[in-house]
Order: sequence, then structure tokens, then C-alpha cells
Amino acid sequence: MVATSEFILTETRNNTMIITINRPDKLNALNRQTIEELHETLVEAENRKEIRAVILTGAGQKAFVAGADIAEFANYSVEEGKSLSANGHFKIFNFIENFTKPIIAAVNGFALGGGLELALSCHMRVMSESAKMGLPEVSLGVIPGYGGTQRLAQLMGKGKAFEMILTADTITAQDAYQWGLANHVVAPEKLIDKCLEIAAKICSRSPTAVKTAIKVINAGFKSQMSGFELEIEEFGKAYGTKDFREGVDAFLAKRKAEFKGE
Ligand code: COA
Repeated sequence: MVATSEFILTETRNNTMIITINRPDKLNALNRQTIEELHETLVEAENRKEIRAVILTGAGQKAFVAGADIAEFANYSVEEGKSLSANGHFKIFNFIENFTKPIIAAVNGFALGGGLELALSCHMRVMSESAKMGLPEVSLGVIPGYGGTQRLAQLMGKGKAFEMILTADTITAQDAYQWGLANHVVAPEKLIDKCLEIAAKICSRSPTAVKTAIKVINAGFKSQMSGFELEIEEFGKAYGTKDFREGVDAFLAKRKAEFKGE
């Protein structure tokens, strides 16, 4: 693994970049510097054409991310609180949701507050059996500020999201699986391998089609945009890509497609 910056480690395996948030002594809590460094790393992953998928995880055995850095925001004003949330949305949470390559959260331990919101913004979540999830913000007198009020309800339904956010209770990985938060739950030692397996499968598909599918699936959850209309529009555009040509030609010739992402 390469220390890309103080709090971020990266490793590339085939076409997948594994990004590790590396602040284990603070259970990988997201301070301002970590947010900036994570943003820069994501921009790099976006710009490197050979990277086709990203896995996001936390350093150490104990935590994925234990939330926003409580010590840092403890004395914030209303304006500072607002800007903390807006900056996070822009640089990390919306940025991840709208990323053009799939991002899989490998939830290796506590995913609390901003940590769960980080996992929720990823396209998929694979959880270790020992992971624990929760949005404890109301127990601190705030509400989830990194998209948790929206994305939790989208994934697990409104009733259960109300329960989790209003009680601030923590749930287990099995609960998360039952409620649609976790795509898979695996033994801790199998976590990264399972994510790599999913990533490898996606990497063998057309990058342009994968990118478009992410965009169109997201569109259905944005009230100002019709997902169906965008789907029709983008479905048509796919026909103009070389990947489409290659995919169809390979199918007809009964050979494996070699996609170039063009
Ligand atoms: N922000 C800043 N520091 C945090 C943190 C956070 N969200 N979560 C953990 N830490 C720090 C602790 O302050 C402690 O630092 P220290 O060793 O310098 O005192 C270190 O990480 C280890 O955490 P600790 O609380 O000692 O571990 P624990 O095993 O007793 O408890 C948790 C683990 C996850 C239950 C507990 O750390 C916790 O409740 N964290 C806050 C979760 C939260 O409310 N997140 C939402 C924020 S909006």
C-alpha cells in the first residue's frame, strides 16, 4: 500500500484501486484534512483511465469510519456547521454517489454517523460480520449532515430509517443485510476478497455502459430529474460508443469482448 497522503493509503490491484482511510487511533474519524485528502484521491481515481472500480475501507480491525471528527466540530457556529455539511456533500458524499466508476464500501467495523453516510453514498456495501452501523447524531444534538437522512430511507425504507435516526441505535451487519443496507456479509478476513471479486466482474464489463448505468440509476432518486427520460436518452447514446460496437460484435462472434471505455 502507498501512503498517498497523511490519512489515505492506496493500493491498485488489476483495475481496482483500494482506498484506505488511515487514522486508526481516532477510529478513522473524518476531520477536514481527511476529507480533502480523500477528495484528491478520488479525483486521481477518476482521472486514471486504467482504474475501473474503487474499494473504500478503513484502517485497522475496529472501524470503517466512526463519524465526522467530533472534536473538530465541537465549537462550530451555525455558519460553520452549514459549511461543514455543504463541503462534505460536494467533495465526498455526492462526489462518490455520482462517481463515474463503481465504488464499493468494504465496511470492516464501526460505521457510525458520517462513516455510515460514507458507506451509504457508495454504490454497494460489503460488510464484515463484526461491523456495526448507526447514525448517532441525534444523541449529540445534531442530525445526520452528510446525506444520511435521504440515503438511509432510500435503501432501507422510511419506517426503519426513522427508527434508526431517531433512536440513534446501532445495528449489526446481519440487521443491515436484512434491511437492504448490505449487499453481502462476510467473515472479516474475506472482506476485501469479496469486494475484489465484485469489482473484477464489473471491470470486465463495458466502462461506458457501467458509467451510464450509475448515472441513470442515480437519476431515479433525484426528484428534479426523470430517471426514465434520462434512461431513454442515454440508452440511445450508448449506440454511438465503440464499446457498444465491440460488445455486440463479440457477442455475435461468440468471443469475449475487449472493452476500451470509448
Ligand atoms: N470523532 C473524533 N474522535 C473519535 C470519534 C469521532 N467521531 N470516534 C472515536 N474517536 C476517537 C476517540 O475520541 C478516541 O480517541 P483518544 O484515544 O484520543 O481518546 C479514539 O477514537 C478511540 O475511541 P474510543 O471511544 O476510545 O473507543 P471505544 O471502543 O471505547 O468506543 C465507539 C468506540 C465507536 C463506540 C466510540 O468511539 C464512539 O461512540 N465514537 C463516536 C461515534 C459517533 O458519535 N459518531 C458520529 C459523529 S457525528
